[in-house]
Amino acid sequence: MLTIALPTGRVMKEAIELLREAGLPSKKLSNPGRELVIEEDGIRYILAKPMDVPLYVDRGVADLALVGSDVMWESGARLVELLDTGMGRCSLQVAGPPELGERFRCHRSELMWLRVASKYPKIADDHFSRRGVQVEIVHLNGSIELAPMLGMTDCILDIVQTGTTLKANGLVTLEKVAPVSLRLVASRKSASLGWNGIKPVLENMKGLVGEVVA
Ligand code: PRP
Repeated sequence: MLTIALPTGRVMKEAIELLREAGLPSKKLSNPGRELVIEEDGIRYILAKPMDVPLYVDRGVADLALVGSDVMWESGARLVELLDTGMGRCSLQVAGPPELGERFRCHRSELMWLRVASKYPKIADDHFSRRGVQVEIVHLNGSIELAPMLGMTDCILDIVQTGTTLKANGLVTLEKVAPVSLRLVASRKSASLGWNGIKPVLENMKGLVGEVVA
């Protein structure tokens, strides 16, 4: 049986719609109640917290997953990225109070020891290290915008979709880090040993969204 891990939360609706359009069973999946494992017509779905989805694939519990590219990057898991679905589009950005903009426009030395709140500590570390800047990262689990508002950090690195949350909390974009979208991924083991089961799912999704990443 093919096992597919799916992220709960804001992208789940789009993920289910994509599976339905790709011809996969989705009747039970659309109304899972409190069930975390759904089996229908030969497919097993695992409903996991977005940040945990790569782990289920990496550990071989799931053959396939739909997962945000932000979460993939943060996890560091070595997954086989099959397709960029183009769904769940948003971006990773550094944001903060407008007065911090000047420091971001100056030499990078002005950013040394900046305090950055994020639920993506690895991405934040990668991003600022690449720029040659040492920062202090404060790992939070949500409502990241609170940190600079309350003076706990100077800025945040977070996902921005509509920009509403930044605006509502008096923050502005300081730097764009990377675009984010929902990817179809497989475990390395399934991509080799279970390819016959994966291929039809990939082909159907490719037909819907067109673009192949790898
Ligand atoms: C995410 C993100 C921002 C917000 C951005 O939080 O961390 O806070 O959405 O979306 P917007 O640009 O459309 O306003 P989420 O709603 O997932 O909740 P969280 O803060 O608890 O992580």
